Amino acid sequence: MKTPVVILNFKTYLEASGENALKLAKMLESAADESGIQMMAVPQACDIYRIKEETSIPVLSQHIDNISPGSHTGSTLLNALMDNGIDGSLLNHSEKRLTLADIQEINQKLKDNDLISCICTNNVETSVAAASFNPDIVAIEPPQLIGTGISVSQAEPEVVKGTVDKVKAVNKDVKVLCGAGISTGEDMRSAIDLGAEGVLLASGIVKAKDPRNALIDLVSKL
Ligand code: G3P
Repeated sequence: MKTPVVILNFKTYLEASGENALKLAKMLESAADESGIQMMAVPQACDIYRIKEETSIPVLSQHIDNISPGSHTGSTLLNALMDNGIDGSLLNHSEKRLTLADIQEINQKLKDNDLISCICTNNVETSVAAASFNPDIVAIEPPQLIGTGISVSQAEPEVVKGTVDKVKAVNKDVKVLCGAGISTGEDMRSAIDLGAEGVLLASGIVKAKDPRNALIDLVSKL
């Protein structure tokens, strides 16, 4: 995977749902082309198919349930996401936590299918546990900063640095991203200076007046 990387989580914002999800994915694709920086979209499951049909931006799902095909009404099945074209998935986002056993098993299923696995974590200790599963990415996001506009890389640099150091000690091949409150070029620059290989972010871009310009600003100091 090319780094630095920008992973944009669409969450369930109306600005990033349905038709708006497609528009945002196109802006992401255009900002990635203009800047030469790797960017990925994380839309809701229902928007994955049309984004994959109409753009070439890599797409991750927001969540996967640890189930097999069969009777699991309301669940999100890996096989169905794969049929819809996903390139990988977030796992264990703070807004959709999983058990340790489920994280390990779904991470393994992603790896078995050559898909990108990005395990989200809430602190240094859980990041170390996640790294031991050998995912492609560990993304550290202190939950108290999510959606606040207060950047983890500026407000809690020790968490980012501590995660990078400890994760790399477990497995140097795991990429470390950070997220929560990141929105500007300075926020991303400080994340990279702390050793992160990219950012996972949402509201700073999704809710910006002009998301495409916000993305260009985000990567302007790299
Ligand atoms: O997954 C990204 C995320 O939880 C951070 O959200 O809105 O603080 O960028 P936000």
